[in-house]
Amino acid sequence: MDAITFILNEHKKIRKNFAAITKINLSISAKKRRFVTLSKFLDTHEKMEEKIWYPALKKNSKLRVTIKLLIAEEKKAAQVIKKMKATKDNEIWNETLSKLKKAVSNHAKDEETKLFPKVEKLIEEEDLIALGKKLKAFRSKHKVQLR
Ligand SMILES: [Fe+2]
Ligand SMILES: [Fe+2]
Repeated sequence: MDAITFILNEHKKIRKNFAAITKINLSISAKKRRFVTLSKFLDTHEKMEEKIWYPALKKNSKLRVTIKLLIAEEKKAAQVIKKMKATKDNEIWNETLSKLKKAVSNHAKDEETKLFPKVEKLIEEEDLIALGKKLKAFRSKHKVQLR
């Protein structure tokens, strides 16, 4: 599987889980429980991008500006998650969850619309397949069972 398809599949899982967690009829404790797993998955997803995906792409100078923007978005999201873990107020936690859902969804969209089309033009298919294998290996080392 090429790296882009691999990442798209993870984005799909992330979006699906955010949609499930933000459902109104879910209790706060169930939301928090499911968020523990989702935030772990998100954390490892961004680490995977920052440790394997971006360093490989950065060799191409035409991709560097977009990558810088994406890393800034990832740092922001990580801060929000940290805040959520620290807050005891359920209302604030819920509001922040909605904001995070939107931010993460926009971030994934930025990757899909601003980065991937450029990558498809600039990087050879066989290199993308080799990178896909590395991403898969990283994921099996950092397994998180999302529903
Ligand atoms: Fe990302
Ligand atoms: Fe991503």
